[in-house]
Amino acid sequence: MADLFSMKNRVALVTGASRGLGRDMALALAEAGATVLCAGRTVKELDTTARAIDRKGGRAHVVTMDVTDEADVVAKVAAIVAKHRRIDVLVNNAGIVHRQDIVDTATADFRKVIETDLVSQFIVAREVGRHMLARNYGRIVNISSVMAVLGRASVAGYVSAKHGLVGLTKNLAAEFGPHVTANAIAPGYIRTELNVPLQQNKEFSDMLQRRTAAARWGKPEDLRGALLLLASDAGSYITGHTLVVDGGLTTILA
Ligand SMILES: NC(=O)c1ccc[n+]([C@@H]2O[C@H](COP(=O)([O-])OP(=O)(O)OC[C@H]3O[C@@H](n4cnc5c(N)ncnc54)[C@H](OP(=O)(O)O)[C@@H]3O)[C@@H](O)[C@H]2O)c1
Repeated sequence: MADLFSMKNRVALVTGASRGLGRDMALALAEAGATVLCAGRTVKELDTTARAIDRKGGRAHVVTMDVTDEADVVAKVAAIVAKHRRIDVLVNNAGIVHRQDIVDTATADFRKVIETDLVSQFIVAREVGRHMLARNYGRIVNISSVMAVLGRASVAGYVSAKHGLVGLTKNLAAEFGPHVTANAIAPGYIRTELNVPLQQNKEFSDMLQRRTAAARWGKPEDLRGALLLLASDAGSYITGHTLVVDGGLTTILA
């Protein structure tokens, strides 16, 4: 059974691997046997991820890539394919949030979130997808959010992008089958730098624990099982799906 979830001989590209969820997903894929290409803008933090993988006996390479820069994505994906001959797994994880009420939000700030959290995923999936289709193999895992299931005040761009990403995932599945699957993970609230203001907000934390069956914030490692399912051969008949990993947050009204 372990072979079903094995990532041996796979090459995985993880965007936003410089910290947070992306760093842990890069580690998880490497521990399962993949060579991981850790992409993001901050070289120092990407190096830290790659070193952590090295220390555990895994294989990692740093790819500096701004997912909002289309020319950069096109060039870097081509360079990866030229060097490694393959990208078996894409984890479209890079993302940002902008917290402000709609009436105060400048259009440019809304657009920036849509560009980073939705348009970039389209561009990276298109560039990597062309290559996966040519090789008749691929696993695309888009990192959406419970904000694709719920709305929430002050994060309009994020909610819109994450809902959009679920739609994009379905379309990638429709167009990229039968050998390339595309799925999304919708994490609940996981402690990372992205949500420090919420971690520091006692009222929010109390609410989260009250209405989550797991009764706690998530940890990056909580996504590992879902990731390996969707990134490995175990997930070969799952496509177009969004797997919510939220400790019960969106299924409980409390
Ligand atoms: N934490 C949660 O509770 C949670 C819940 C649901 C969904 N998510 C989603 O999970 C993903 C990761 O979030 P996180 O919590 O790990 O956030 P984080 O700690 O703030 O990390 C965000 C990552 O995205 C990268 N990134 C941002 N803009 C980029 C760009 N233009 N080009 C390349 N990389 C870029 C950052 O790298 P650089 O700055 O080095 O470029 C960083 O590695 C996001 O899509 C987020 O929406 C998080």
